[in-house]
Amino acid sequence: MSELLQKARDAGKNAYCPYSNFHVGAAVETDLGVFVGCNVENASYGLCNCAERTAIFSAIAAGAKEFRRLSVSCLDAAENAASNSKMPCGACRQVIAEFFAQDSVIEVDGAGEFTVAQLLPMAFLLN
Ligand code: THU
Repeated sequence: MSELLQKARDAGKNAYCPYSNFHVGAAVETDLGVFVGCNVENASYGLCNCAERTAIFSAIAAGAKEFRRLSVSCLDAAENAASNSKMPCGACRQVIAEFFAQDSVIEVDGAGEFTVAQLLPMAFLLN
């Protein structure tokens, strides 16, 4: 397992997920080092924030400019469950596409490695 994935798993333990009980952790490697995130839920369900976006937004807030690699772990997905239950959601794929190069590698715990282009072909981009 990569060091980045270990950091994602550790961050997932801090998830605030009393509604889904589904802990997710993410870690992004940037020009300023590694930033981690977890999912943060809310009683108003639509306000829930995924682990990947928490990590990316933390990096942006700290001033990171280059996003190199991302690892994500769904701690509560059964090991033998279908890969779908371990993959980044559509909203996170769009946010990933905003900051990572198309050929950057996204490591998904228990599912494998994917490029950004594989996760979101023909992404909506303005720059
Ligand atoms: N979740 C993530 O944090 N990342 C994903 O890519 C998939 C879903 C979170 C959102 C919610 O808190 C919980 O997992 C169940 O959907």
